[in-house]
Amino acid sequence: MTKDGNQMGINTRLAHSGNNPHDYFGFINPPVVHASTVLYPNAATMAARGQKYTYGTRGTPTTDALASAIDGLEGSAGTIVVPSGLAAVMVPLLAFLSAGDHVLIVDSVYHPTRNFADTMLKRLGVEVEYYDPHVGAGIAALIKSSTRVVFTESPASNTFEVQDIPAIASAAHAAGAIVMMDNTWATPLYFRPLDHGVDISIHAATKYPAGHSDVLLGTASANKACWKQLCETFYTMGCCAGPDDVYQVLRGLRTMGVRLDHHQRSALDIAGWLEGQPGVARVLHPALASHPDHDLWKRDFCGSSGIFSIVLAGGGQKQQHAFLDALRIFGLGYSWGGYESLAVPVFLGDRVVAKGPYDGPLVRLQIGLEDVDDLKADLARGLAAAAAA
Ligand SMILES: Cc1ncc(COP(=O)(O)O)c(C=O)c1O
Repeated sequence: MTKDGNQMGINTRLAHSGNNPHDYFGFINPPVVHASTVLYPNAATMAARGQKYTYGTRGTPTTDALASAIDGLEGSAGTIVVPSGLAAVMVPLLAFLSAGDHVLIVDSVYHPTRNFADTMLKRLGVEVEYYDPHVGAGIAALIKSSTRVVFTESPASNTFEVQDIPAIASAAHAAGAIVMMDNTWATPLYFRPLDHGVDISIHAATKYPAGHSDVLLGTASANKACWKQLCETFYTMGCCAGPDDVYQVLRGLRTMGVRLDHHQRSALDIAGWLEGQPGVARVLHPALASHPDHDLWKRDFCGSSGIFSIVLAGGGQKQQHAFLDALRIFGLGYSWGGYESLAVPVFLGDRVVAKGPYDGPLVRLQIGLEDVDDLKADLARGLAAAAAA
């Protein structure tokens, strides 16, 4: 990429970022380097570790290509590439938390992040506290002298509350804490966390960057102040990603802009249509004007992706299961960001603050790349089945 790359349009940047084809004989895509051992020309170079690549766990031309593409999108000083989105959550938390520290985690966080905090972090002596996604500047009242990290995720997993990230970041920084954000929903195309005060931006690259439900990968991108500590922990833990998976995600990035644009348009069309359907109490999509956090979303985000939830109008698990079982195109399966539509029942039993109330059971929808009319017909089948249950 040329130096003025940041001025170019996003699809141009996605098409050309990461590697320079002329570094590898002009081949457009970078080599997939399978490596543990890297040879040194002599003992002195070896003793000094005096060359760019030293061992497979510490980076290859393949991981560098992806990390550099992500740095360009995030505006970060450095990016680690790890084997899953969950690992991308875990490594930064382990990098910055020690026994006796306090961490504030948004209550509407992705469940396995909560599980990691409640099991591993607590066992290591970290005090874990959950806060309301709408806390905003009020986070200041929860910060203690031992608070090292405020962990955010916006919009929230499953219930899609939007957090006031700049207000949280300024309160955290005033108290000497750093801010991490799981930014998987928006991708750096629709929200750039570091521009809003976040110190480390985390992605399940498994979702939109990979885009085809066949790869697990995670990235964590740090600003200059946090990069060294994040990178050293990554090296210490040796949790590097496999080269084929890294390559697949770089390949996915090339088309992520056009795919996201399609996901965005289809999801908004379907979400708006669902608001008028009998049997739907609410649609939890922050880009809808009816969403309580719509103004905050409009202030900070420049797009929306393809995942949101609906609240059925009354009923319980029987109606929720009837809805899900009637679907023929939407698959019942976890994850999202792939080309195919998915639906999952939402469970809020782990929450301590952000529990609702909601008028009925929740279902989360991932809108894939299929034709919208077919997806609407499928959802109408689900709603009819729920009404009849
Ligand atoms: C918001 C969020 N963060 C992180 C992850 C974890 O990603 P992975 O499945 O790659 O571990 C997920 C997965 O669903 C997610 O939804």
